[in-house]
Amino acid sequence: MSALSPKAFQSVTQLFRRVSGIQLGEAKHALVTGRLQRLAQEAGETDLNAYVDRIVGGHAPAEEMTRVIDRLTTNETYFFREPQHFNHLAEHLEHHPPQGEFQVWSAASSSGEEAYSVAMLLADLLGEAPWRVTGTDLSTAVVEQARRGLYTMERARMVPPDYLKRFCLKGQGEQAGQLLVARALRARVHFTQANLMQPLPDDLPMFDVIFLRNVLIYFDNDAKAEIVRRVLGHLKPDGLLYTGHAESLSTLKLPVRALATAIHVHA
Ligand SMILES: C[S@@+](CC[C@H](N)C(=O)[O-])C[C@H]1O[C@@H](n2cnc3c(N)ncnc32)[C@H](O)[C@@H]1O
Repeated sequence: MSALSPKAFQSVTQLFRRVSGIQLGEAKHALVTGRLQRLAQEAGETDLNAYVDRIVGGHAPAEEMTRVIDRLTTNETYFFREPQHFNHLAEHLEHHPPQGEFQVWSAASSSGEEAYSVAMLLADLLGEAPWRVTGTDLSTAVVEQARRGLYTMERARMVPPDYLKRFCLKGQGEQAGQLLVARALRARVHFTQANLMQPLPDDLPMFDVIFLRNVLIYFDNDAKAEIVRRVLGHLKPDGLLYTGHAESLSTLKLPVRALATAIHVHA
């Protein structure tokens, strides 16, 4: 397989930036090359630069373009990542029992571990009371994975043992070594594709809590502010916004008040 030429690298990263808002710099050359080589092989193409030309020139089927976007996103995630947010949410619910349906959005949900972690907490603390979790992501591949709710046990290291027993099934036979999120929990978690850099789906409701974690790091300050403003359009007044611990909003002049590191309230 040929190497990725500087011109092809530039054109494919520009295309990715136009679609996702994310700038992949020169430091990512090897990573981009590796990911595209595998895709080109799967598409039966031996010349990587010709493959990129077809994609960038719009001469490939739309599904091939989706595969490229999916492969270039970074989807690292796991259950109960950054547990301080789940502890904070549990305390919040104790002091402010919800009046109507409690709605939470995992706004860059990747393969769904974050959304299901929230769902386990809500099932534990709110039980049969009305609540619902929505997960959205740019990548259609991870959205499909999230809908399946099937994970390797390795991703579940941080799931409290009691939650594992109550909300997950141990894979049998072909699914040995995996866990399946229980059907009753999956029924209250809905995943859909959405790009945070573009207008959001019309049917997206107003949320009590939004998790917008470990996605802002990929954007410059202008894009970051644009995304947070768009997301805040779906957060109720006094609603909570959680960001990744390395994602500060302090310089962006947004209508939020910081309660603690990476915990904000909609002002
Ligand atoms: C590192 S994962 C974070 C997953 C989870 N929020 C967590 O903290 O564990 C980042 C996710 O952001 C998604 N993403 C990147 N750009 C996006 C965009 N413009 N709109 C929506 N999702 C995006 C990626 O597809 C990826 O699944």
